[in-house]
Amino acid sequence: MKILLVFIVASVLLILDTATATHCGCKYLRQCYKQMLKNLLQADEDPCIENVSIGASTVTIFLKAISEYCELVVKVYGNSTTHEGRNLYEVVINSTLPSGADDRNEKRPVILLEAGQDGGTESVELALFVIEQLVACGENKDMIQKVQWVILPSTNPDGQEYARARREPWKKNYSPNGKDVLSFGVDITRNFDDSWGNCAAVKNAFSQDYPGLKPNSEIETAFINDVFTRYKSRISTYISLRRDGHAILYPFASRNNTITTIDKVRKRAGDIAAKVNQRAGGIQWFVNQSIFSMNGKEHCGHSVDLAYNKYDIKYAFEMRVFPETDNRIMSKFQSLPKGHEVSLRTGYFSGIREVYNLLVNDMSTKQKG
Ligand SMILES: *[C@@H]1O[C@H](CO)[C@@H](O)[C@H](O)[C@H]1NC(C)=O
Ligand SMILES: *[C@@H]1O[C@H](CO)[C@@H](O)[C@H](O)[C@H]1NC(C)=O
Ligand SMILES: *[C@@H]1O[C@H](CO)[C@@H](O)[C@H](O)[C@H]1NC(C)=O
Ligand SMILES: *[C@@H]1O[C@H](CO)[C@@H](O)[C@H](O)[C@H]1NC(C)=O
Ligand SMILES: *[C@@H]1O[C@H](CO)[C@@H](O)[C@H](O)[C@H]1NC(C)=O
Repeated sequence: MKILLVFIVASVLLILDTATATHCGCKYLRQCYKQMLKNLLQADEDPCIENVSIGASTVTIFLKAISEYCELVVKVYGNSTTHEGRNLYEVVINSTLPSGADDRNEKRPVILLEAGQDGGTESVELALFVIEQLVACGENKDMIQKVQWVILPSTNPDGQEYARARREPWKKNYSPNGKDVLSFGVDITRNFDDSWGNCAAVKNAFSQDYPGLKPNSEIETAFINDVFTRYKSRISTYISLRRDGHAILYPFASRNNTITTIDKVRKRAGDIAAKVNQRAGGIQWFVNQSIFSMNGKEHCGHSVDLAYNKYDIKYAFEMRVFPETDNRIMSKFQSLPKGHEVSLRTGYFSGIREVYNLLVNDMSTKQKG
């Protein structure tokens, strides 16, 4: 009798456990996602992308699976390939059309998220988590109806893989950089065609800050530029997710000035920061300031400045995530005890959701006005 009871209790616990584990933080799973997990999941695998170690092949497998099973919700394009032959993915949620197709009926604003320019896996992991939450969680359905999401989850896979394999600090891509037969890599974060060359020149091709021989010289940079060009009139908000920090940062990166037109962007950064601070469990204060003041110096060729200046994207931000990753680089942030990733991730996702809410607010104000 006693043994049987223990057995029953244990089974119930087991069922509860698998039920929550396969929900990946969703209140309820979309049918296509449920089907995908049912068909693909092996016994020793974890159904939630946030528990998986992220390499270039994980990105490919995950995107392939969701676009196959949830094709009505998500489309994935991988037309560009890096120097080392890895795909640069463009994920569109939700679109029933080929990417960039000229659809005059498509009026929805776009939120563009881009991750991984500076190597590292942390921002890539967050981008995949956002994709998972938008595609898998039924309760987020409004978020993918009123707005189109274009997500570039991994824009420097060569750099990411190099750092992973060699375990040395690396943030550039890994193309021969044209200066020296032995020197590799251009800093993508400094290769965009905005104020390029206005900063003190970094001529040393071995430097992690090497901006390339000319702006837009890299496949990765050209890829991001192409996305700006194809969606530009509809992009309402652009966020470049980067590692080593805990902040939402507004223009400019290349100079220390705040013009009045930036006030709106600054206010929005404050609203997003407030939401993250409210939801990240107060672990650490999520800062809002300009990219320049965060860095304490100019950063030229920055994609956020380019988005704001050239493509007229009103809300353009750099968002730094997961501060514990590299204390050497981010001495400004205290190191965090392990296990805070979950609260941080939840906080960041609330920030992204706030971006959506603020945009929907704008849309309804415009309609009324
Ligand atoms: C996997 O992720 C889910 C949802 O985020 C979480 O509830 C669960 O505890 C995680 N499992 C492990 C083994 O970390
Ligand atoms: C990718 O290639 C397909 C097929 O050639 C094309 O229809 C599509 O427009 C391309 N997408 C991008 C993002 O370049
Ligand atoms: C995709 O967006 C359209 C609006 O353009 C909406 O009607 C449709 O329900 C959305 N699809 C899903 C799966 O949410
Ligand atoms: C940037 O400008 C502010 C105010 O205009 C000034 O206080 C600050 O010292 C400047 N920072 C740098 C690094 O020049
Ligand atoms: C955003 O930054 C401003 C100026 O530094 C600060 O006064 C405000 O408290 C910040 N907001 C949040 C939510 O941190």
